[in-house]
Amino acid sequence: MISRPVAIVTGAGRGIGRGIAVALAELGYFVVINFTKNQQTAEECLTLVRNAGGDGLIARADISRADERKNLLETSVAVANRIDLLVNNAGVAPEVRADLLVADEASFTRLIDINLKGPYFLTQLVARQMILQVEQGTHTAEELPKIITISSISAYTASVTRGDYCISKAGLSMLTALYAARLAEFGINVYEIRPGVIETDMTDEVRDKYDAMIDDGVWPIRRWGRPGDVGHAVASIARGDFPFSTGEIFNVDGGFQLRTL
Ligand SMILES: NC(=O)c1ccc[n+]([C@@H]2O[C@H](COP(=O)([O-])OP(=O)(O)OC[C@H]3O[C@@H](n4cnc5c(N)ncnc54)[C@H](O)[C@@H]3O)[C@@H](O)[C@H]2O)c1
Repeated sequence: MISRPVAIVTGAGRGIGRGIAVALAELGYFVVINFTKNQQTAEECLTLVRNAGGDGLIARADISRADERKNLLETSVAVANRIDLLVNNAGVAPEVRADLLVADEASFTRLIDINLKGPYFLTQLVARQMILQVEQGTHTAEELPKIITISSISAYTASVTRGDYCISKAGLSMLTALYAARLAEFGINVYEIRPGVIETDMTDEVRDKYDAMIDDGVWPIRRWGRPGDVGHAVASIARGDFPFSTGEIFNVDGGFQLRTL
């Protein structure tokens, strides 16, 4: 039996997911580190989690596949007995940035499957488990389960060379609203974090472009975002600092969403 709070973090081997796993470990969490292909990065993340004061396990699952989502939940519950937090983090960028007028369906289908369908139905599965826990009296009023989804500034910013990505992220905002509305009666709060541009492998190929834009002041806080910036936002929500907020959006974007004149 695990006495620590338990979080599932999807796509936690590297990047933002790893930053989230470590920030939760600093709060003492047991973290289910979900990964798809690279077991080594997941194991590295587990070491970092343990070094930060937490514990966890690594769990392979492609979140776009129903059977693997089911396995992920069943493995987590078998080991940890309950889920206190789900962080929908896993996501992909298009393999090729293609103009809206010529972009193909294959990329659209891939992005919707991984970035939107995966979290939508994983949330459904985990929410059912959380409701069961709440009904069984597993949680105190201060420690009710929570769900956090990592969307993006692309949820509302039109990038015409990656419409598929933008649509998938906009869908995650509705996922947040829907589950927030549905789960409030059980005391399960649901949140969205919208990162701006964060320094990870995903953004490595557009590094020079964003270096120049940051120098030009594309957002007021003139630096790259870091995985820890998102991790600390997740940790703050996980700690229970926002009990009277649900469906809430947290911008972790250096102020990109500000309009200025
Ligand atoms: N880096 C940014 O600037 C940025 C900005 C806003 C939002 N985001 C979002 O944050 C999340 C993490 O991004 P990142 O920059 O750390 O990217 P990343 O590519 O470094 O990490 C993504 C992780 O998700 C995993 N993953 C991919 N497909 C998966 C699947 N089907 N099942 C399970 N895991 C899968 C990958 O293996 C990888 O470990 C993504 O959803 C991304 O869209 C990133």
